[in-house]
Amino acid sequence: MKICCIGAGYVGGPTMAMIAKQCPEIPVHVVDLNQARIDAWNSDQLPIYEPGLHEVVMEARGRNLTFSTQVDAAIEEADMVFISVNTPTKTYGIGAGRAANLEFVEKCARQIARCSSGHKIVVEKSTLPVRTAQAVKRILSSEATNLTFDVLSNPEFLAEGTAVEDLLDPDRVLIGGESQQAIDALCDVYAKWIPRERILTTNLWSSELSKLTANAFLAQRVSSINAISALCEATGADVDEVARAIGTDSRIGPKFLKSSIGFGGSCFQKDILNLVYLCEHFGLPEVAAYWEQVVIMNDHQKQRFSERIVKTMFNTVSDKKIGIWGFAFKKDTNDTRESAAIYICRDLLRERARLTIYDPRVPVEQIRAELTYACTDSNGQISDADRHMIENNIEVVDDCYAAADQAHAIAVLTEWDEFKELDFQRVHDTMLRPAFLFDGRNLLDRESMESIGFEVHAIGKSSQKPRAED
Ligand SMILES: NC(=O)c1ccc[n+]([C@@H]2O[C@H](COP(=O)([O-])OP(=O)(O)OC[C@H]3O[C@@H](n4cnc5c(N)ncnc54)[C@H](O)[C@@H]3O)[C@@H](O)[C@H]2O)c1
Repeated sequence: MKICCIGAGYVGGPTMAMIAKQCPEIPVHVVDLNQARIDAWNSDQLPIYEPGLHEVVMEARGRNLTFSTQVDAAIEEADMVFISVNTPTKTYGIGAGRAANLEFVEKCARQIARCSSGHKIVVEKSTLPVRTAQAVKRILSSEATNLTFDVLSNPEFLAEGTAVEDLLDPDRVLIGGESQQAIDALCDVYAKWIPRERILTTNLWSSELSKLTANAFLAQRVSSINAISALCEATGADVDEVARAIGTDSRIGPKFLKSSIGFGGSCFQKDILNLVYLCEHFGLPEVAAYWEQVVIMNDHQKQRFSERIVKTMFNTVSDKKIGIWGFAFKKDTNDTRESAAIYICRDLLRERARLTIYDPRVPVEQIRAELTYACTDSNGQISDADRHMIENNIEVVDDCYAAADQAHAIAVLTEWDEFKELDFQRVHDTMLRPAFLFDGRNLLDRESMESIGFEVHAIGKSSQKPRAED
């Protein structure tokens, strides 16, 4: 058995490194068109930061794990080809802003058809709209001459930040397919380290749809608790207390009830929008509207937070310095795709704030690129005002203290552990007064921050202290 994986991104890299680590007898070849990314996988500075990933890669690389740009050769040699390329939201034409752009998946299918002979198992690892396997099968059968094949759906459920843990000990592995032989071949790979009872098998369409559904349910939980956070702020209820109270109900459960500035990352929004598009396509407008509301609520949560900052700071942040702690979409990753921080920073820049940003894993070029992209309209244009702000009103610094120095406010936008360990007296001493602290992740202990002298505004917590008579 030889494995090839097309796409060396956040999913292809870690998943294949784990398979190679756990199955030393299986050669695993990860290929990508992006030379810089492949060079990074072959270096000591991996392109992706995930706790524990470095060790996994170092154990298998050079033994049975290879990274290269030799896509054709890798496909040719493999018995099993994973497609793990990006499936972003379409930005143009039919379904723009909703449907998944399947251009890269289709190109992979055509390339597999071109470079293959004999029998291949083609595994959809990318998250795809339900019934994509139908298209993959048609391309393979119409383009290839000396090829027989089986198509499997094997969506990935890892979460960034805990990818290695999730791959090592997943809640379940899902394999959808039609050929029992092909399903068994993939089951045998995972069974090297995952108990058989956790490997679920379904038909192709259930597997494809389960991934979109899982992400929709997870995102829905975030939007649900965030919706309640707005009501908490208005009424004096505390969202963390509400979450604890409802989370002890075993039917609800305690996980994924942390209120915040909103979900980010490359998947939740794109997968829900894709679900919305599919529902519309299949003539289910009410179902589409139901799921779209999850994204609308998420956008509202980000906007509400930046508006709260402006309102609290006497209705203007113009020419005020705001220290931004964290830019990644969550802790323990360098991924900034769809990070809530991008939109909050953009809104503050448009209010003419000066931002001093610190994130332990995100470099300055990436921050500028994300903000530039967020300010670019659908015709690829960016206004002079936005460009000027991005060039002149952003400084990226090396630690939280520098970000807070002479600042009017601090905004915590990512829940990095190191932010909890700071000398907050020192932070407070260097800030202007009142020292506003906007905690977008409810990360810091409000009482101890207030005892130092910060004016704290947290998510789902009323900014006004309750009066004795209330
Ligand atoms: N990131 C996550 O946490 C996560 C989790 C589960 C599922 N997914 C899904 O997995 C898929 C991949 O996501 P990702 O985050 O790894 O994306 P990514 O953008 O990090 O990586 C995709 C890679 O594929 C490469 N690629 C594109 N077309 C190619 C081609 N024709 N030949 C060779 N390489 C090609 C790109 O250069 C890129 O490096 C998506 O469908 C995503 O929805 C992602």
